[in-house]
Amino acid sequence: MSELPKIIQDLKRNLKYQQKLGMKGVTKTSNTLEQIRAEIGDCKRCPLCEGRKNIVFGVGNPNAELMFVGEAPGRDEDAQGEPFVGRAGQLLNNIIKAMEMERSDVYIANIAKCRPPENRAPLPNEAATCIPFLHQQIETIKPKVIVCLGSVATKYLLETERSISTSRGQWFEFKGIKVMPTYHPAYLLRNPDAKKPVWEDMQKVRDYLKSNI
Ligand code: URA
Repeated sequence: MSELPKIIQDLKRNLKYQQKLGMKGVTKTSNTLEQIRAEIGDCKRCPLCEGRKNIVFGVGNPNAELMFVGEAPGRDEDAQGEPFVGRAGQLLNNIIKAMEMERSDVYIANIAKCRPPENRAPLPNEAATCIPFLHQQIETIKPKVIVCLGSVATKYLLETERSISTSRGQWFEFKGIKVMPTYHPAYLLRNPDAKKPVWEDMQKVRDYLKSNI
């Protein structure tokens, strides 16, 4: 079992080499979520590994049409190894229900898979180290829509410096996938007035998904 990440790495290197040699018929296929998790292994690629209890990989339907991307695990998520299980997670569950879906219908992940100290935002080097795995998850799941929860997810996924208040509610694209930024559920806990714009954003997402079956 512990050999698996190395086998995957060797296979990838070999495929790249064959492609370089011009071998026809070697097409790039997405890794499965299990393969991506195996590649992450007991990650020590950035300093966030020092304070974490669990790597929070992501959870949900591997064929989800809708994917939510948050910032990074908090204390509850770090303890349980699952994203959005604390108070912000309860609110996210309510948002998903209001969209007439179940949590198990969607996929939920974060920019960073390990909890930053004091719940600070992931630093650029930490996000840059971790985000290739999120990109792989997106490539595998192929959702129709990604909702970026908050400014950090929006900044790192869309590589933009635009503020969340100007980007929320508008459609963007990531590798051909529609992206809708909205406010983070933790922000809604502190600013209940922001629930209305988030609901407007989520209605756009729900309507787009309904019209693109
Ligand atoms: N906030 C996030 O951004 N992600 C989580 O998983 C939990 C809280």
